[in-house]
Amino acid sequence: MCGIVGYVGTGSAKEMLLAGLSALEYRGYDSAGIALVRKGKLLVRKESGKLRALEAKVTGSDFDSRLGIGHTRWATHGAPTRENAHPHVSGDGRVAIVHNGIIENFMELKEELILEHGVAFASETDSEVIAHLVSLYYEGDLVEAVRRAAKRMRGAYAACVVAADDPGKIVAIRKDAPLIAGMCEEGGLLASDIPALLKYTRDIYLIENNEIVVITKQDVEIYDEERTRMNRARTHIDWDVAAAEKGGYEHFMLKEIYEQPKGVRETLAHRLDESGAIQLDDLGFTKEWADKLERIYIVACGTACHAGMVGKAMIEKYAKIPCETCLSSEFRYSDPIVNERTLCICISQSGETSDTLEALREAKRRGAEALSIVNVVGSSVARASDHVFYTWAGPEIAVASTKAYTTQLVSLYLIALYLGLLRGRATEAEAGALLAQLAEVPALIEDVLGREDSIRALARQHYKKEKIFYAGRGTDVATAEEASLKLKEISYINSYSIAAGELKHGTIALITRDVLFFALATQTKLYDKMLSNIEEMKARQAQVVAVAKASDARVAEVADDTFFIPDCSDEVAPIVAIVMFQLFAYHVAKFRGREIDQPRNLAKSVTVE
Ligand code: AGP
Repeated sequence: MCGIVGYVGTGSAKEMLLAGLSALEYRGYDSAGIALVRKGKLLVRKESGKLRALEAKVTGSDFDSRLGIGHTRWATHGAPTRENAHPHVSGDGRVAIVHNGIIENFMELKEELILEHGVAFASETDSEVIAHLVSLYYEGDLVEAVRRAAKRMRGAYAACVVAADDPGKIVAIRKDAPLIAGMCEEGGLLASDIPALLKYTRDIYLIENNEIVVITKQDVEIYDEERTRMNRARTHIDWDVAAAEKGGYEHFMLKEIYEQPKGVRETLAHRLDESGAIQLDDLGFTKEWADKLERIYIVACGTACHAGMVGKAMIEKYAKIPCETCLSSEFRYSDPIVNERTLCICISQSGETSDTLEALREAKRRGAEALSIVNVVGSSVARASDHVFYTWAGPEIAVASTKAYTTQLVSLYLIALYLGLLRGRATEAEAGALLAQLAEVPALIEDVLGREDSIRALARQHYKKEKIFYAGRGTDVATAEEASLKLKEISYINSYSIAAGELKHGTIALITRDVLFFALATQTKLYDKMLSNIEEMKARQAQVVAVAKASDARVAEVADDTFFIPDCSDEVAPIVAIVMFQLFAYHVAKFRGREIDQPRNLAKSVTVE
């Protein structure tokens, strides 16, 4: 996902834009650029590579301006070259734009602009059509020009537009890509993400789909697509810049792994009342509605989907409602069986994942009630849902998701229990037992964190391996999937995850002496089966590291090595065991010298299909 910023006011636009872009650096980018309006002209500078390359090109008084837009680009259409970097400018050099998203009909717009209006394109990007369209429609009213251009565009976009002939304002539009605005003492601000504005304001305006926002040095004006002025209350952001900084840790990922006890504690604290009872009344679920529920779909991508796999088990165990966990990208095209007796639970850290947002819309179109589990307050998924359960992980910056996962798990356990109690399918005793176990989770995670040294030693021993398997049974399958994803995305090792019972149906053919095989054995009723799987792997000479509970006396006799997580119930074991694998992935990636927080080819939130 690209980062966008805009500023108009009394301060130095260049400084404000660079500060905003640098606050978005964590999201990964391959080029950056700014456009400033100065003395009735547009001044555009862009560079491929890191922000410092751009900074070096915008020194000196020539770049003294009070209004401008900026961009960090994550290449989609066209290579990460200077030509393809944003801002893009109209042929007459009077209009500049920055854009995050994809213009799906850019080919037909481009053809029309070339053939009918003689426009010459300077880049291979889809975004450049926006600059030409706005210029085509500009007749002295920038808002109207942007509005008309937006009507021609299909796809997802958040775009900021400036015109040399209208030097007092920035006009921005949004559809299915995040956009926020704010005011500070020095003027008006726009950005794709909250961290870009936090240095200047914590009170932000969330821009809705199809809205147009105009910022001047005195005001933020929001309009709907027919140009009717909208009233919008500001949203207060209660986390600060420090929460989005590394705080002494070498990487955001490590910091976020260590923040998990806090995230879990806070997620619980916000949903348990003084007597310790679950408080989800604000979701507005009634017993009558819950009794009629026929089916639950959990939809999510990547790590969030792995949390959904555990969530399914908890929902079926405690609420006794058939539940299916689907990848958002599959769900939306699968003709799902959804009606008004369906609950669709969407899980998303960022709340901006395009596939999940569209899956949610599809479920709602078909009549489902939509509940989202989201970390980013006011994000698109949260706003499109009927009910929102916020995780209290705090900002997650590293591309590899860690604390979002464990807080999503805790949220799903609470939702499962709440629905179970509402429907009279879970007993108070069961609820009390699970809540007591959840209360222990922060301390259990701390226990695993306290053994980082031995996890680092394990990583040192195995970081050169090229084939690493993770297998388990029951909810250990989800942990295996998540552990494997963590490792592959930051270390680039070829890693596989599998339900252990499936090994003999094909995958066992890959098991050789150079394989490192993690065997998860935390689920009591499947324990003996897992020991047999370990024997099978040993017989094929794989090196087996078992992950089991501390009081397990048998597993060490069969595995080559064992990592013990503290004793805990089978239910909460997924929340505890994953922490060991997060640290393992982190240290393997570090031994391999990888860019841990910004792995290649990946972005923190995936706002394109
Ligand atoms: C995990 O480490 C990922 N980087 C990725 O799988 C992520 O969980 C997925 O893209 C979903 O993101 P979301 O939670 O923001 O929707």
